[in-house]
Amino acid sequence: MKYSKIIGTGSYLPAKVLTNYDLEKIVDTSHDWIVSRSGIVERHIAADNEMASDLALQASRRAIEAAGIGADEIDLVIVATTSPDKMFPSTACILQDKLGIRNRGAAFDIQAVCGGFVYALNTADLYIRGGQARTALVVGAEVLSRMLDWTDRTTCVLFGDGAGAVILQASETPGIIAGKLHADGRHQNMLTADGNIRHGEIQGDPFIKMDGQAVFKFAVKVLSEVVEEVLAENNLQGSDISWLVPHQANIRIMEATAKKLGLSMDNVVVTVAHHGNTSSASIPLALDNAVRDGRIKPGQNILLEAVGGGFTWGAVLVRW
Ligand code: ACO
Repeated sequence: MKYSKIIGTGSYLPAKVLTNYDLEKIVDTSHDWIVSRSGIVERHIAADNEMASDLALQASRRAIEAAGIGADEIDLVIVATTSPDKMFPSTACILQDKLGIRNRGAAFDIQAVCGGFVYALNTADLYIRGGQARTALVVGAEVLSRMLDWTDRTTCVLFGDGAGAVILQASETPGIIAGKLHADGRHQNMLTADGNIRHGEIQGDPFIKMDGQAVFKFAVKVLSEVVEEVLAENNLQGSDISWLVPHQANIRIMEATAKKLGLSMDNVVVTVAHHGNTSSASIPLALDNAVRDGRIKPGQNILLEAVGGGFTWGAVLVRW
């Protein structure tokens, strides 16, 4: 088989909703400030007993059902997460077990922070096109609320928990047309959670720290560059893209990127208002939304793009 094709999508948000008005009671902020700077209205917070693999399980079941396959057909599980259940084993192995998939091909996590889903999708595509897998489950799942300092208003208002999943299967027709990944570790301190475990204790700051303005400028620059790169390599223009499905970090980053590319916001899938920045889960969450409400239709060109801590960034071009 020459290509891989997305044949099902699914997503899951935890039941507990935290609105901007709720946050006004926790830190010195306001609903209006958060909406005007980020576009976020509410975010979902995982229950104490919910781990990234539990969120991933719900999203995966929905994707499996939408694809009309059995879980036992899945021979590759990739979970993009920056908030895994444990240091090890991988959340992918835990998810594989929860789905009842027994010894069927590889299962591993990808850690590329908010760039994680495009990294995972690109990797799964290469596995399938290389003949090493036929049916892949690709998930982004995060419980970032546990890495937030709830006294730091510059970060705690921006993030939320959730999961999204796709089933990618070998196909004679496209499918995934192209993928492009980048990383530049020189920018590692712009967005970081430094903590690590040593001798049974956390060393360093375990909470998310971010230079917001630097991230903003960097994100708009590299997202525009990678989108232009993918379009040029495939002899396409912005007008050939039916839907841009960006990482849902911040409405202003999405607007600035769309403007640089000459794309109307009418062609950008935006769901950030309802779940905030869910890191690697945000693209499959937005994608599932637009697939289920009928915006995304067969034959359309869809462009997924993301940037995240590392820094990592990339784009995947899909013919639906
Ligand atoms: N509520 C009220 N006021 C706040 C808040 C808040 N939650 N947070 C910061 N402020 C204050 C600041 O203290 C500052 O006050 P001062 O002028 O008295 O010093 C003022 O608001 C302006 O602060 P700035 O940092 O200049 O605000 P800015 O307009 O840059 O918006 C933001 C901050 C939203 C973080 C912006 O920089 C941004 O969007 N950055 C991108 C970061 C992002 O989206 N990261 C997501 C993770 S990265 C990723 O996914 C790739």
